[in-house]
Amino acid sequence: MKVEKICCIGAGYVGGPTMAVIALKWPEINVTVVDIDDDKIDMWNSDDLSQIPVYEPGLKDIIKQTRNKNLFFSKNIEKAIDESQMIFMAVNTPTKQTGKGAGMASDLTYIENSARTIASFANSHKIVIEKSTLPVRTAEKIKEILSESKNKFTFEVLSNPEFLAEGTAIQDLFKSDRVLIGGESTKTGQEAVQSLVEIYERWIPKTKILTVNVWSAELSKLASNAMLAQRISSINALSALCEVTGAKIDEVSNAIGYDHRIGDKFLKASPGFGGSCFKKDILNLVYLCQFYGLDEVAEFWLHVVKINDFQRERLAKKIDNYVSANNLNKEVGVLGWAFKKDTNDSRESSSIHITYSLLEKGYKVNIYDPKVSKNRIMEDINEVRNFKKTINPDSIIDNIIIHNSIKDLENSSLVLIVLTEWDEFKDLNKSKEDKIIFDFRNILEEKENIYRL
Ligand SMILES: NC(=O)c1ccc[n+]([C@@H]2O[C@H](COP(=O)([O-])OP(=O)(O)OC[C@H]3O[C@@H](n4cnc5c(N)ncnc54)[C@H](O)[C@@H]3O)[C@@H](O)[C@H]2O)c1
Repeated sequence: MKVEKICCIGAGYVGGPTMAVIALKWPEINVTVVDIDDDKIDMWNSDDLSQIPVYEPGLKDIIKQTRNKNLFFSKNIEKAIDESQMIFMAVNTPTKQTGKGAGMASDLTYIENSARTIASFANSHKIVIEKSTLPVRTAEKIKEILSESKNKFTFEVLSNPEFLAEGTAIQDLFKSDRVLIGGESTKTGQEAVQSLVEIYERWIPKTKILTVNVWSAELSKLASNAMLAQRISSINALSALCEVTGAKIDEVSNAIGYDHRIGDKFLKASPGFGGSCFKKDILNLVYLCQFYGLDEVAEFWLHVVKINDFQRERLAKKIDNYVSANNLNKEVGVLGWAFKKDTNDSRESSSIHITYSLLEKGYKVNIYDPKVSKNRIMEDINEVRNFKKTINPDSIIDNIIIHNSIKDLENSSLVLIVLTEWDEFKDLNKSKEDKIIFDFRNILEEKENIYRL
């Protein structure tokens, strides 16, 4: 199939950057990204590039080169679907809040609605691509919805999960470790796979493009995230043991990482994993295991999340114990709200949970992050407040001050807690001997007043 137009449903952290890179690599293809959130589309179209909704190093430059040439952000979903030969679905798949599987399974409402929209507006054969992370066998459900299309056009459904990491998304898209494409073994299924392979082949070496069956592609994404999160929880579990035994977690990580069978990546102790994906994808995996009667397997993966919660609460208690033992004021400065550096995404960030735990213990909390907006920070705190149905919620909000610069924050609190590894926090090493710093990212050198994990 000759691909001249591509549509992507979902203009978020995945849809925006991935389509920007495809547009850059394929100037002869028109790529249109659509979203039900009109404000988000306006932000993507903003003249001021600092207003685009996703912050990623390198992204602004690509948008500058491609936007309104062959990359479009549009509210006209119907037209984009109608005109495109290939349609990516990059919509959110959060954890279900109600109904069967609540708190565990993926909420597929957005993906199902997207499939219904495609079914309504498609006017010719389409290749429909799952970019969102989905439970294994979701393609079956999507095919079912598409087959109800009143126009009776044909569809091929592929799974092409995204492996980019926020903060390095553009670099990851340019030099992907692998691109995974799952398709049916039928002739038309394999033709569709080939069409997508051709898109990626322009910049990804053929040896890194893996073609597999649809279920393997869907499951590989969940499995990859579960394995990554498992490493973080493994090293964080060991960090607790280091603390009580006098071993140093960085030295232990380093020693472990020298073993080539283990490797040295993803072995850094931290306040726990965050981001929109790890927790929800593991819970989804747990739900799938339970569904298929694999209770022991489900329990194994669930503990990866439990250790993450344990690490957050353990670190909040560590601060509280220090403050009580030294008779200090219950006031701290939180450095970093994003779940990792180089992104403005704070979804599921450990900062939210550690801060909230301190607020519940009666602390006044000063917060600074270079990229996450004040509104976002307050929304994050309000979400937890509503979820926990906190008694006397106003006292929580009254105890939060959000600062515009690291200097303001430093002046406000004696005890500082580094929760995101932003480069600008590394300078804390030079000056602040009058401060007590808890460095939960291990980016500062150990000193009398600096406590690392
Ligand atoms: N963020 C990541 O780092 C990452 C990496 C790999 C995979 N993923 C997966 O990719 C998917 C998208 O993640 P994200 O972080 O980009 O989410 P996001 O919330 O940033 O973006 C999703 C967008 O889809 C839009 N949307 C929802 N329903 C729609 C509909 N029916 N029509 C049009 N637009 C609709 C939303 O308004 C939102 O803007 C998820 O399944 C996620 O698990 C995310």
